[in-house]
Amino acid sequence: ACTSDSGDDSTLTVCTNVPFEPFEFMDGNEYVGFDMDLMNLLAERLDQTVEVVEIDFDSIGSGSALNAGTCDIAAAGLTITEERQAAMGMSQAYYRADQALVVPSASTVATLDDLSGMQVAVQSGTTGETYANDHAGQYGYEVVAFETMGDIASALSAGSVDASIADLATWTDMIKDAPDLKLVQPIETEEHYGFAVQKDDKELLDEVNAMLDQAFKDGTYAELYEKWIGE
Ligand code: ARG
Repeated sequence: ACTSDSGDDSTLTVCTNVPFEPFEFMDGNEYVGFDMDLMNLLAERLDQTVEVVEIDFDSIGSGSALNAGTCDIAAAGLTITEERQAAMGMSQAYYRADQALVVPSASTVATLDDLSGMQVAVQSGTTGETYANDHAGQYGYEVVAFETMGDIASALSAGSVDASIADLATWTDMIKDAPDLKLVQPIETEEHYGFAVQKDDKELLDEVNAMLDQAFKDGTYAELYEKWIGE
């Protein structure tokens, strides 16, 4: 369901994947959140209009969506990694992130040590999936990959998986609407989110970094941080 608009310079096409609160999620049929507001700032700066392209996270994280011309930029709570820096143009960091362990409220699981023999849900193509795979042997659980965070929340609520590992800020927000789930352990991974552009799009990359510099300096970033993330 994706068409390239990269050639049209009145439109900034933004690849994302929802729900990923508070960075990107639906408010009615509108895409909103911290990332979306930062993309609105960028579009304003470029005198363009944002057009959101919703796509599976795998295609965003691997760089395949950007490099196929599906969108101009990816705004998806995307952690900066060496692989991604090689595959795409990654901006400077705009958010410090970690992972978290979430289980059904009735579960007795309190830490990663309690996961032996269990099924742990992750979002396909994410750093949470990488973390879960890297530690599966140590803790003795099995990793089950899902396409969206919404699918993971449903599977946890239905009891078809025992736990999930995904980004801390997103789980913190998502469990507010899901009283049958609880966050039991933050997992410090020291990640940083960045925006990604097509590998050779130096021009747009410079604009994104300049937009962030400006927002850090003039208080807009702090204002948006307060609005979407809070203390
Ligand atoms: N920060 C993680 C990563 O980059 C997860 C991002 C998932 N984002 C999303 N919009 N679903 O791999």
